[in-house]
Amino acid sequence: MIIGIESIGIYTARYVIDLGVLADARGVDPAKYYVGLGQEMMSIAPLNEDVVTLGANAARLALEKVAAREAIGTVIFATETGVDQSKAAGIYLHNLLGLGCNCRVVELKQACYSSTAALQFAAALVARQPEHKVLVVAADIARYGLGTAGEPTQGCGAVAMVVSSEPKLVELEPHSGMYTEDLMDFWRPNYREEALVDGKLSARMYISVLEKAFEDYRSRSGVEFKDIDEFCYHLPFTRMAEKAHARLARKFGGVVLRPEEAVAQIGHSLDYNRIIGNSYTAALYIGLASLLDNNEDDLAGRRIGFYSYGSGCVGEYFSGRIMEGYGEWLHTEHHREALAGRVNIGIEEYERLYREKLPTDGSEFITPKHRVGCYSLVGICDHKRIYESVGE
Ligand code: CAA
Repeated sequence: MIIGIESIGIYTARYVIDLGVLADARGVDPAKYYVGLGQEMMSIAPLNEDVVTLGANAARLALEKVAAREAIGTVIFATETGVDQSKAAGIYLHNLLGLGCNCRVVELKQACYSSTAALQFAAALVARQPEHKVLVVAADIARYGLGTAGEPTQGCGAVAMVVSSEPKLVELEPHSGMYTEDLMDFWRPNYREEALVDGKLSARMYISVLEKAFEDYRSRSGVEFKDIDEFCYHLPFTRMAEKAHARLARKFGGVVLRPEEAVAQIGHSLDYNRIIGNSYTAALYIGLASLLDNNEDDLAGRRIGFYSYGSGCVGEYFSGRIMEGYGEWLHTEHHREALAGRVNIGIEEYERLYREKLPTDGSEFITPKHRVGCYSLVGICDHKRIYESVGE
């Protein structure tokens, strides 16, 4: 039996700001963002869009070509931007998508890493019950604060993947390398909406944990750097992945890559992130969708190495093989149209959207009707979030 990703759908908010506009407003050379961070734009979520609506839109797409949707027996929702301390965001999503009631739903958290735990747990569930399909959803809204160093590395997005014993896109290989260490490089106490971050430490740890997780992966799997054909990295910003790849190539492949060579090797996995921004748990797998959608070569049979990093910190390196005929199961056109159809906003609108807040005292509140995809957070009533399907 093989186990892997049967389908993948991505989604991001309908508003976007060009980082050149942000740079001008902050008195920064735009090249710092465009070149130094390798980011061009970031998606901005309005108040009626949250991880539930982002995730539901991605999942709606991921489920479109999946036969036997009733076989979805588990939904695992991975997020750093949870909407409730107790109730799993996936239960709202389960309802919005009209999934069957004989299903388990749970939420996972570990910064940007939990989507990978979700994928691995999903694969284990399918190994136990091969007729079972698991819907893995990862969604986040990255917020660091206006005028902070982290501001240009915000963004938002969601990815949904169906994991099953009928993978059409990627077969997951069984070995993983892991690394965990108690570290304060990025965290968000329960009373805060913006992350706290030691940016330089986080960037150093991203690379140091990559080396440790890869070392563990190669010793468990026997797979060496040279045996990997394609690479997907967690993407806080694209330059981070380029630097990480150059380090991996040098340390484990004995190859010194110039920056443009590193970009050429991982390039298509970066395309979507460069114009969406960081989406924490979703970022690595939006990178996978980006690679599959945008690389014009036939990638069938090629091995992909995945590096997942969640500050705090946990890292995991694992791999998969791209399936024959994967192209016909992708949602490339839909992804591209949705990204191209976003509304460009200026600095004032961005700051206005950023400052909009839901009440925290449970009072009745109707959210402003900003552009969204197929689902909207209508408002709050008696401390309860109310969602609706709105069509596109
Ligand atoms: N032209 C071209 N490049 C320029 C430039 C210019 N005019 N000005 C600066 N640069 C370059 C710098 O040289 C630097 O590149 P190198 O690192 O290759 O030298 C790059 O632009 C960034 O400049 P700084 O390091 O000065 O930027 P900063 O200190 O203002 O902020 C940051 C950068 C620390 C990443 C900050 O954006 C941040 O804190 N972001 C959030 C944390 C983060 O994303 N961490 C990533 C690893 S942790 C993780 O992955 C988990 C997660 O998702 C959060």
